[in-house]
Amino acid sequence: MKVLITGITGFAGSHLADYLLAEKPDIDVIGTMRWRSRLDNVEHLQGKVKLLECDIRDATACNTLIAAERPDMIFHLAAQSFVPTSWKAPHESMSTNILGQLNIFEAVRAANLDCRIQIAGSSEEYGLVLPEELPITENQPLRPLSPYAVSKVGQDSMGYQYFMSYGMKIVRTRGFNHTGPRRPSVFVCSDFARQIVEIELGLREPRICVGNLEAERDFTDVRDMVRGYWLALEKGEPGEVYNLCTGTSWSIRSVLDLLIGFANVEVKVENDPDRLRPSDVPRLEGDVTRLHQATGWKPQIPFEQTMQDLLDYWREQLS
Ligand code: GDD
Repeated sequence: MKVLITGITGFAGSHLADYLLAEKPDIDVIGTMRWRSRLDNVEHLQGKVKLLECDIRDATACNTLIAAERPDMIFHLAAQSFVPTSWKAPHESMSTNILGQLNIFEAVRAANLDCRIQIAGSSEEYGLVLPEELPITENQPLRPLSPYAVSKVGQDSMGYQYFMSYGMKIVRTRGFNHTGPRRPSVFVCSDFARQIVEIELGLREPRICVGNLEAERDFTDVRDMVRGYWLALEKGEPGEVYNLCTGTSWSIRSVLDLLIGFANVEVKVENDPDRLRPSDVPRLEGDVTRLHQATGWKPQIPFEQTMQDLLDYWREQLS
């Protein structure tokens, strides 16, 4: 069996490749990368996975790749995934996320391929959620609050439409926040962890810059998340959509306090207005019942462990 991971050089993509190589030895893992992609996350996979150059915004490149490789399963993880970038460059987020996925779907159709496809949607799609609507089930109305969230709603709807129109075996996941080693430092936990380690190493003044600490997010360890992606696609129903989350939310302030508690130094916290967004989703806390009932998935790694591993990752990277 052959599995294609779009965006294999990225955070979740590289962890999914690790999971498949460790747990599914009979699978051939191939992945797409752009010519300018950094390879740090997959250096340890050299010789174990096949890397193929393909920008998903290029329809011809997608057609050529899919026709030549004919994968049995596709995990579509390549995306513009940072919410603030989508405010600065909305066209880029829309074209990469929506048109990129369209190119993959059309390439699968053109090659007459009967493969299973997972789409990495996001809890950001839910956007504004009222307190009485928590925890969030898949039936929650989508009220996106950022261009990124709109692009993910677009991907999600397209997945449903291609399933209904063509019977394509598409499974949609709505992943809530996920973090862990290799997380780029623009995202909140990794940003704070990196700043703390820089302070530990004497690389910056003992001050952590922060944005909105009142938001609340439901964090899953990335290693649990990619196992969820696999189970959703292997055992989930085509056409269905599944939340992937823990059911517990943490305020960003409590994440900061936890990380500071693990630090080897004293730090001061400084508000940075540049880190605030035009609108920010106040609280995301999901209900994972549907995925659990379909696949047995539940998170295994406690958030405290994830934060320790993230600090250790940055200690290794920066020292
Ligand atoms: N990045 C960042 N940096 N966020 C901060 C900071 C900071 O210094 N201070 C507070 N925050 C707050 C943000 O305002 C937001 O409310 C929360 O921390 C999480 O921010 P991010 O880590 O940037 O993630 P996100 O919630 O915007 O989006 C992530 O989760 C989605 C799923 O809900 C991304 O991984 C998306 O790709 C993913 O779909």
